[in-house]
Amino acid sequence: MTHLSTAAQNFQESAIRRSGILGAAVPGLISLAAGYPAPDVFPWDDLAAITADLLAQRDGNTLQYGATRGYRPLIEQLIAKTLHDRAITAAFEDMVITTGSQQGLDLLGRVLIDPGDVILVELPTYSGAIAAFHNLQGQFAGVPQDSEGIDLVALEAAVTGIKAGGKTAKFIYVTPNFQNPAGLLMSRARRLALLEFARRHDLLILEDDPYGPVYFEDVTTAADTRPIKADDTDGRVIYLGSFSKVLVPGLRVAWLVAPREIAQRVELAKQATDICSSLFDQRIVHGAMDRGVVDRIAPGLRAHYQAKRSVMEQALQSSLAGRVKWTSPRGGFFLWIELPEGVDDRELFERALKARVSFVLGSAFFVDGQGHGFARLSFAGISHEQITEGIARLATAINSH
Ligand SMILES: Cc1ncc(COP(=O)(O)O)c(C=O)c1O
Repeated sequence: MTHLSTAAQNFQESAIRRSGILGAAVPGLISLAAGYPAPDVFPWDDLAAITADLLAQRDGNTLQYGATRGYRPLIEQLIAKTLHDRAITAAFEDMVITTGSQQGLDLLGRVLIDPGDVILVELPTYSGAIAAFHNLQGQFAGVPQDSEGIDLVALEAAVTGIKAGGKTAKFIYVTPNFQNPAGLLMSRARRLALLEFARRHDLLILEDDPYGPVYFEDVTTAADTRPIKADDTDGRVIYLGSFSKVLVPGLRVAWLVAPREIAQRVELAKQATDICSSLFDQRIVHGAMDRGVVDRIAPGLRAHYQAKRSVMEQALQSSLAGRVKWTSPRGGFFLWIELPEGVDDRELFERALKARVSFVLGSAFFVDGQGHGFARLSFAGISHEQITEGIARLATAINSH
């Protein structure tokens, strides 16, 4: 096509959405692909009451355009409560409300990436971040992880390589809490060492944290999930939080904390993108915070996902033990499995669809063309029965290899 921009010609389709589309054509399919939150834990009655109250007030502002930065009372609540709980200090000027963290990633990309700049990411990393930065013509350097998180020796080598190639390393994108897809929790020591590394190389860190509050039984202290941002003394870390996993994803409300001049540029980029995030959505979220709904549902939500994680692990134990490998996730929505030797994710996907189950290809989360020996399974949005049956079907597909 001749009229498309170079960037648009190279836009990438989301692998997660793609597997959803392929799966939708299969009757009776169980999707282990979608990482959607469970509607069972949505606070339906609270949201109904808050919404009814808001509309009954007939305050025109509720359904009006709002400030690009976001609804001020919501930002003030975030500062006083959420950021305070996470040991992060920020002022109004450091924050922007975004239409999901996905928009935050896109806006930050617009503000920080020049075509050809290199972004350092974990192997694997969140495919939505890959898509956002790729579409802005960023390039990638993938850095392996060990059990504690991103490998700093490999990171050093990657930065050296980028500089030697005459390119600019712009920032390091990480998801330290229960990463999507690998479920990994970065250790506290590694977080601090990463911050020190970023200082030494004058790099920014983009810390994406939608899953931090969704921790399981063995995460017992706040220190385990303490954001890197909490220890950032020189304005080097940009932090993204979201209501998608702790309230509902359908109200597209998320937020970011950034050094002031970056937040201000993000505001300008957002003006041109959507003027403001839905004020109605923001006011509903504000109402939910105000009435303590987010805090009240949090324990039930953790128990809900933890139980599903255990059901999935039991199912894997009984039908695929010794065939696939995984590390038990300590929070979040995902179980990341290493496939048996010789099994390729693309080929397995075809066989899985025949067995009426889907997953996301491991390779969708790798920026270096690797990852074909992995699959991402989500236990979040489906029932215990569906998890058990889905894993049984996946075992059929794997064992027919
Ligand atoms: C790591 C990560 N970042 C960002 C997002 C985007 O979330 P939202 O736009 O709903 O806030 C997701 C969604 O799954 C995610 O897993």
